Amino acid sequence: MIPGAPPIRYRGYVTTPLQFTQAFWNNPHPVYAQLREESPVRPVTLPNGMEIWLVTRYADCRAALADPRLSKRQGAGDNARSLAQPVRSPLTRHLLANDPPDHTRLRRLVSREFTARRVEALRPRVGELSAALIASLRERGASADLVEDYAVHLPIQVICELLGVPIEDQADFRRWTSVMVSASASAGGAGVPEAAAAFVGYLLGLIGRKRAAPAGDLLSALIATRDEGDRLDEDELTSMAFLLLLAGHETTVNLIGSGMYTLLTRPDVRRSLEADPALVPAAVEEFLRLESPVETATSRTATEPVTYGGVTIPAGAMVAISLLAADRDPERFPEPDAFDLGRPDNQHLAFGYGIHYCLGAPLARLEAQIAFTDLLAAFPGMALAVPADRVDWRPGTLIRGPVALPVTL
Ligand code: HEM
Repeated sequence: MIPGAPPIRYRGYVTTPLQFTQAFWNNPHPVYAQLREESPVRPVTLPNGMEIWLVTRYADCRAALADPRLSKRQGAGDNARSLAQPVRSPLTRHLLANDPPDHTRLRRLVSREFTARRVEALRPRVGELSAALIASLRERGASADLVEDYAVHLPIQVICELLGVPIEDQADFRRWTSVMVSASASAGGAGVPEAAAAFVGYLLGLIGRKRAAPAGDLLSALIATRDEGDRLDEDELTSMAFLLLLAGHETTVNLIGSGMYTLLTRPDVRRSLEADPALVPAAVEEFLRLESPVETATSRTATEPVTYGGVTIPAGAMVAISLLAADRDPERFPEPDAFDLGRPDNQHLAFGYGIHYCLGAPLARLEAQIAFTDLLAAFPGMALAVPADRVDWRPGTLIRGPVALPVTL
């Protein structure tokens, strides 16, 4: 049992409340280890009040991610229920809020843009963007916040260029998406309806401008798809733009942040990569496995009773799949807490599994590999400017990564 937490009764099950304090966000691993060991499939109450079944063992998580009896449709976005209909529809008709056959149709429309080959062609441009960010870090002088001054910018610039979203607008949509992804950390999802309404207004304006003056970007291509046939309706178009913009920049920032945290606190790992940069891709997989930037997959709803590890989740219940807990399961990964550059068969779940497997995985890997290679090469003397235990991690069960990473360069 978690120390100090009295058992509570929840619909007939004895459950221990997870204590969502900053100490938990900073190091949730011991709590997840205990859950995996003692009650790997159990109901919990999230900080936003949502009651949900939490799955923590690798085998169960992988089975749940691929289970067609767990629907994305009824979950329709964890914060979506607080939204008024005119805002809700244009934000909740995307890939992560759909089951087949709609999911299959929507995914086919965008998947060709994100194949490993298409993404590899972006390497020179991502390299240029990274080099410019490194140059501006140098101009800053002796110190910087690696999250705010580098990690945030690379993914956001890449996804904006890909979609054709003006980079000058980033302050606005970063504010809105940050409220929306942090909603799992607070009671009632404070600020979500306002942020969502502002985002929808922005997207509708942008789509209108692109429709009037199409360019060679992904958003213009999706608008043409919409306007030429019946394969994408207006809400699906807005929702797709919303999901790509959100997923394109709220995730990779945390991979770069948590990976740099590891490198700055583990001189042995850093020395290995400095000695042999060809190890960077293997390091990225370990960063993903150890500090899954998407801590918990987006919620699903059981359409019928489902049983994992001998525990039955009733029909109608919401299900949360802990990618962070799964990827440190000793049943799947020997010495799961160790950083191992030679780990064989590193099939972690950080990008999910099954039909909703991350569309942007090749892009995220490319951005991260370039980021770590460039940062290590540019700043061999870089060090954390605060003690490691003073680095706070983002609150909330959806996204995991350091809030800020103050360094001396
Ligand atoms: C390190 C960075 C990233 C991580 C860890 C990550 C993780 C994930 C995970 C775990 C899922 C599945 C969620 C679920 O099943 O509930 C997912 C889906 C998705 N991701 Fe990523 N992602 C990352 C970067 C990106 C990028 C850069 C893009 C942008 C292009 C992107 C676009 C998507 C989309 C569109 C889906 C939905 C796919 C579907 O439902 O078919 N992701 N991602």
